[in-house]
Amino acid sequence: MATTTEKPIVKASAGGDAGINAGMIWFNGKIVPQEQAQVSVLTHALHYGTSVFEGIRAYPTKRGPAVFRLQEHTQRLFDSALIMRMPVPYSQDEINQAILETVRANGWGGCYIRPLIWRGGQTLGVNPMPCPVQAMVATWEWGAYLGEDAINKGARLVTSAWVRLPANAMPGKAKAGGNYVNSVLARMDAVSAGFDEALLLDANGFVAEGTGENIFFLKNGVLHVIEHSVNLEGITRDSVIQIAKEMGLTVKEVMATRDQLYSAEEIFMTGTAAEVTPVSEIDYRPIGSGEAGPVALELRQRYLKAVTGEDPHYERWLTYVNRCQPSPHPSPRRRGSRGGASAAQANLDRSVGGGVGGGRRAAGWRVCALSVAQLRAVSGADRAALQRVRRGRPDREQERHLQAAAHRRRHLGRQLPHRHRRLPLRPRPQPHHSRRHPLRRAPARPRRLAHPVLAPHWSS
Ligand SMILES: Cc1ncc(COP(=O)(O)O)c(C=O)c1O
Repeated sequence: MATTTEKPIVKASAGGDAGINAGMIWFNGKIVPQEQAQVSVLTHALHYGTSVFEGIRAYPTKRGPAVFRLQEHTQRLFDSALIMRMPVPYSQDEINQAILETVRANGWGGCYIRPLIWRGGQTLGVNPMPCPVQAMVATWEWGAYLGEDAINKGARLVTSAWVRLPANAMPGKAKAGGNYVNSVLARMDAVSAGFDEALLLDANGFVAEGTGENIFFLKNGVLHVIEHSVNLEGITRDSVIQIAKEMGLTVKEVMATRDQLYSAEEIFMTGTAAEVTPVSEIDYRPIGSGEAGPVALELRQRYLKAVTGEDPHYERWLTYVNRCQPSPHPSPRRRGSRGGASAAQANLDRSVGGGVGGGRRAAGWRVCALSVAQLRAVSGADRAALQRVRRGRPDREQERHLQAAAHRRRHLGRQLPHRHRRLPLRPRPQPHHSRRHPLRRAPARPRRLAHPVLAPHWSS
């Protein structure tokens, strides 16, 4: 009789994702409860792995949750989509907004973020081109990926019999669903054999990476990092290289064989999920002292300080979820926009009610918890709430409060005699560099009645 170590099959309920509490999910442009974010069993990606995704983390900071290297992750997501010939129906900025909105909607302090873009159902031929491209962003709380023990004592690795596919077989630079079959096979075998993680070699026997991590090793005091060949270009890898250099370490990118790793002084892995995880053993050989190495632990400490905003030097890597941040690709400020009450209402409609997918924003400043126009629409009485927003702790209650304030102001405007209403001013050409910080007060301008009826001689 065939024996198996597999657990008995558990019948999944509809959705079958009971082990993950993702709360609210951004699903094709709308925030919906997890149980409503469902796809057909005839989805192309389910059959052929035609999806691309990202793994991102948001960390709790003194100024509320912050997403680590958001733009770099979104860029890689779009690069993966490009490699897979998937036309994404959203802009990068819309995906960034969707990510921030999903974290906010769930009220997480810190979380793991999974944007996914996939080919939906239309045909089940291998050619995915007729299938629509769909997108979602899910978030959930996820602690140490390889467990606390792996961090404190160092992870135990085994070289996998499965080999990373060469670049002319699979696009290793794309974080594509189908690529991960290779990782899944290697990880299942490593875990079944009692190890924490698998080490994958490339087709020529050189060290490639872990199933979801890049590899570093210390030899003669020099930090070596495995060169990009068939590996994913890790964003954590890049961050750790920068931190190590700033710590004064010499960093070298190298090709290495598995036996070179055996005699390393220290080894550690990097990845969004695994962060910086020391390695204590590979293929039954202790690495260095056979415990988590001091350089790995120091780099881990520094990395955690960077991601949680405790090291101001790396502030540039953080996107605060509840604050307005300059967009990496700001488009010029709309001409003539005065950010008055009606603009505030329009922004409220889009950012609070309508969801990110509800409209494509042209604002140069990324709208987070509250739009610039909303902030300006707030009366003096709402200063306290505004202060809380500035400190990065807006919540639903505040949003509702500010929404009501903007509405009152608009409504009041209607009651006033015509000459007292806020009237649109003449559009002014804005030099590109003159975008103002949303939290800074606008410089006082002479109040001119620009309405063509009241100021008929206004010449533009
Ligand atoms: C195969 C693979 N290599 C490396 C990494 C590390 O990449 P990052 O640091 O960007 O998370 C990941 C994780 O995304 C991965 O899946």
